[in-house]
This record gives sequence, C-alpha cells and structure tokens, in this order.
Amino acid sequence: MIKRTLGKSGLQVSAIGLGCMGLSFAYGPATDTQDAIRLMRSAVERGVTFFDTAECYGPFTNEEVVGAALAPLRDELVIATKFGFRSGNSSGGLDSRPENIRAVAEASLKRLKTDRIDLFYQHRVDPGVPIEDVAGTVKDLIQQGKVKHFGLSEAGAQTIRRAHAVQPVTALQSEYSLWWREPETEILPTLEELGIGFVPFSPLGAGFLTGGINENTTFDRSDYRNTVPRFAPEARKANQVMVNLVARIALLKRVTPAQVALAWLLAQKSWIVPIPGTTKLHRLKENVEATAVELSMEELREIRSAISNITVQGGRYAEDRQQLVNR
Ligand SMILES: NC(=O)c1ccc[n+]([C@@H]2O[C@H](COP(=O)([O-])OP(=O)(O)OC[C@H]3O[C@@H](n4cnc5c(N)ncnc54)[C@H](OP(=O)(O)O)[C@@H]3O)[C@@H](O)[C@H]2O)c1
Repeated sequence: MIKRTLGKSGLQVSAIGLGCMGLSFAYGPATDTQDAIRLMRSAVERGVTFFDTAECYGPFTNEEVVGAALAPLRDELVIATKFGFRSGNSSGGLDSRPENIRAVAEASLKRLKTDRIDLFYQHRVDPGVPIEDVAGTVKDLIQQGKVKHFGLSEAGAQTIRRAHAVQPVTALQSEYSLWWREPETEILPTLEELGIGFVPFSPLGAGFLTGGINENTTFDRSDYRNTVPRFAPEARKANQVMVNLVARIALLKRVTPAQVALAWLLAQKSWIVPIPGTTKLHRLKENVEATAVELSMEELREIRSAISNITVQGGRYAEDRQQLVNR
C-alpha cells in the first residue's frame, strides 16, 4: 500500500490505517480475541502499518489485544495510543496531569508488549492542566525513548499552536468525514501551516456513510450510537440523503459507498490518513482497497457542491461528551 507522511518529523504510515477501538469497545460486545488477532494480522498482510488504540478502549483490553496481535510484527508497524481520562475510563473525567501521563505510558507499553509508543495522543484537552505541561511531559517521554511522536485529539486551533511550540505535534486525530466537515474551517488550515498530519477518526461516519444503517436498524444495548443525537431514528431517516449521495457516486464508479467515503478523505490533503474501524475481514479488504479509488477534480467538485446543500440532522455527541471537544 502507498504510504503517507504525518508531520514534519516524517512519520511514515500506510495511507489507510486500522482503527482498533470497535474490536473491544463502543460498538457492542467485544470481538473474540483470536478473531481480533486474525483481523489485525490480516491488515498487516494487506499493507496496513498504522494501528490506533487507546487505554480507555475496553478500558485496557483493546491495548492488550493489539499488543497480542502485533508484538511479533512490531518493527514494521506504527502503533498509536492515547492518554487523558481518569483511571482510563472515558466516562470518568479527564486526567492529563504529568504523573498520570507518565503512568499511562508505562502501563500502555506493558499492555502493548513494546518498548516504545510510536504516537502518543492526548485523547481530550484537559482544561485543568496547561497544554504546555502536557507537551512538556510528552517531550520528556520522547527524550527517554519511550514515545516517538506527540499527538492531540479533538483539540482547538489555539491549543494545537501552544502545544506545538513546546513539542512539535506530529498528528491531530479528530472526527472528519463527508458528514462532519467542521475541521475544514480552522483546523485544516492550522495543520497545513504548522506541518502537522491529520488522522480522521470515524471516517465512515461510525458506519452510517456505508449505507448499512437506516432508521429501522437496531444497535446492541451497549452500542454508544444509542446515545448519539445524529443516530436517533428520525435523524437517521433525515440523514439518508447523505447516504444516497455517496451510494450514487459509488454506483457510477463501480466501487462501494465506504470506498467513496475514504477516497474523498484521501483526496482532501496528501497528509490525511483515515483510520476506519471494522471487525470483519471482508470489510477490511474493502476499506484498504479504497486507496486505489481516485476521484477526479470534476467528481470532487460535484460532491462538494452536493454536500453543501445537505444539512446533517442531530449532534455528533450527547451533551456531556460534546463539552470535551474543540477546546
Ligand atoms: N480520538 C477519538 O476520540 C476517537 C473517537 C472515535 C474513534 N476513534 C478511532 O477511530 C477509529 C475509527 O472510527 P469508528 O470505528 O468510530 O468509525 P468508522 O470507522 O467511521 O466506522 C466503523 C463502523 O463502520 C462499520 N464498517 C466499517 N467498514 C465498513 C464497510 N466497508 N461497510 C460497512 N460497514 C463498515 C463497522 O462495523 P463492522 O465492525 O461490523 O464492520 C463499524 O460499526 C476507531 O476504531 C478508533 O480507533 C477515535
């Protein structure tokens, strides 16, 4: 698979990575461990070199399964993980105090069965800790060789600038897709100016853009989409107009809607690396093959014009989680 470079320090990764969260967390029951290991190793065979996890996925179990799958192949790969929630619990409040960052790094290294974290993101900006202290703590970990690159997630432009002044940021990981384009306003220009890579999470709109979800779909009781306004049945019904657009382009190009959604992201900037998540081998193949789908300038113009006429219904987070983003 072709590679892309994140940040000025030259972190090379496959143009599409694998988001590992859904193997353990957020989308219903965890995948059987052996199946998860098989899926991740199959991703490596298909040329994926970039894997995304976090201590709070599980919590902890996702890092463990990523470690079990990838430790034998470690040297070929880039493994990204994240710190920043109290006790590793994404519903338990924020904790980016330096002592917590250091403790998470040690624990993540053990769970990932490795001696270095290639990319260590702050999962959410913690208003209780100056970002300079966070960046300084990661800088120390980099000097000690325990971490290779620094990342932020869902940070606002000013926070990115302040962090970058202390320790160059290699990548920002925030939501970006055909149905969530807010980063285009301020974030992408800031990243371009500073030479920071961008890793869009939920590039398939948490599955919605693939066309596999409609207003009659029911999610597992533990699936986080049950709590998301954008996934309320009436919002799903209204938002089908976006799915129909993606499906129409896919039909014309003889590819799948998921591939259109990923190809569109890849076409926005050469330093964008989406990390779609899947628990299924056939979808992994489909998603990876999106790197071969090219959208012409004319097609990109048509898509842009069509999506600008669509207003997506429903917020992307429940109220309590919405407060954690873009700080
Ligand atoms: N930094 C953050 O705060 C943050 C937040 C959310 C996610 N993330 C990261 O980003 C990664 C990706 O985001 P995401 O998993 O939320 O959303 P996503 O990649 O947009 O969508 C994942 C969903 O789409 C389905 N899917 C995947 N490929 C498909 C295909 N080709 N056709 C039909 N359905 C398909 C998956 O179901 P199946 O498993 O059934 O295929 C899953 O339900 C995560 O794994 C995680 O590593 C980070």
